Amino acid sequence: MMQENIKLIDLVIELVDARIPLSSRNPDIDELGRNKSRIVLLNKADLADPVYNAQWLEYFKARGACVLEMNAKSGGGVRGINQLVQEACREKLERDRKRGIVNRPVRAMVVGIPNVGKSTFINSFAGKACAKTGNKPGVTKGKQWIRLNKSLELLDTPGILWPKFEDREVGMRLAFIGSINDEILVSEELACDLLCCLKAWYPGSICERYGIQWKDTFAEVLENIARSRGCYARGENLDLVKAADILLDDFRSGRLGRITLERPEGQ
Ligand code: G4P
Repeated sequence: MMQENIKLIDLVIELVDARIPLSSRNPDIDELGRNKSRIVLLNKADLADPVYNAQWLEYFKARGACVLEMNAKSGGGVRGINQLVQEACREKLERDRKRGIVNRPVRAMVVGIPNVGKSTFINSFAGKACAKTGNKPGVTKGKQWIRLNKSLELLDTPGILWPKFEDREVGMRLAFIGSINDEILVSEELACDLLCCLKAWYPGSICERYGIQWKDTFAEVLENIARSRGCYARGENLDLVKAADILLDDFRSGRLGRITLERPEGQ
């Protein structure tokens, strides 16, 4: 469906998760979006470390992308988009002008892996003021376009790209942010993997949140999280699955602080 839709558009707005900007990209998008203008939005920037948000912006800019940090939930960053669209589509707009085509709006599609914030972004970008343009017979049969302003239209169905990974580390990071179904994961193992990353990059986060210290093993740390949160299964038995779920949920919702789990090369 995306291959079909992509033919109709000028601009791909790709959302990535600012906490893992590389692992949350699907490499197929480069192929799919070839010959299209492209914007990369570092979404959920409110949950990511501001120091690394700045570095990731530079990273993408250095590779020629038009990029912006974004909090789709609060609408933060949305105001900068229109200018970025003009920038990303400069060549196309110039080409149109030379051919005498004026006032044709840029057509854009939002793409990204599940849970990265595509629907939230469309809602906050389009806001209440927008009008659905309805079907355009012959041109965009069956497609709904949201007219954002006179120079930009957005396809109202985002393109979903499934995450792709051969590397265990990438899979693990996608699981941390909740882009892989939790039901197929062993939450205690995932929690210990997360503890390992936190110890390396944000060693103060666990002590601050749960009032506990690092131990020799991550399993022991998880046990202490269970104790500190009163996770007991029966009698004195600790409920480690519950503790793991609390840890993952605290991470995903930013209660462990603003955390970035990937660094641009060489950082
Ligand atoms: P998708 O279409 O790409 O699958 O993602 P969707 O918009 O459904 O967003 C997935 C979750 O991420 C939602 O949370 C949404 O509120 C949250 N989200 C989206 N953008 C941001 C952002 O920039 N910052 C933060 N902190 N969260 C964001 P949810 O738990 O499913 O729903 P809700 O409890 O927020 O209503």
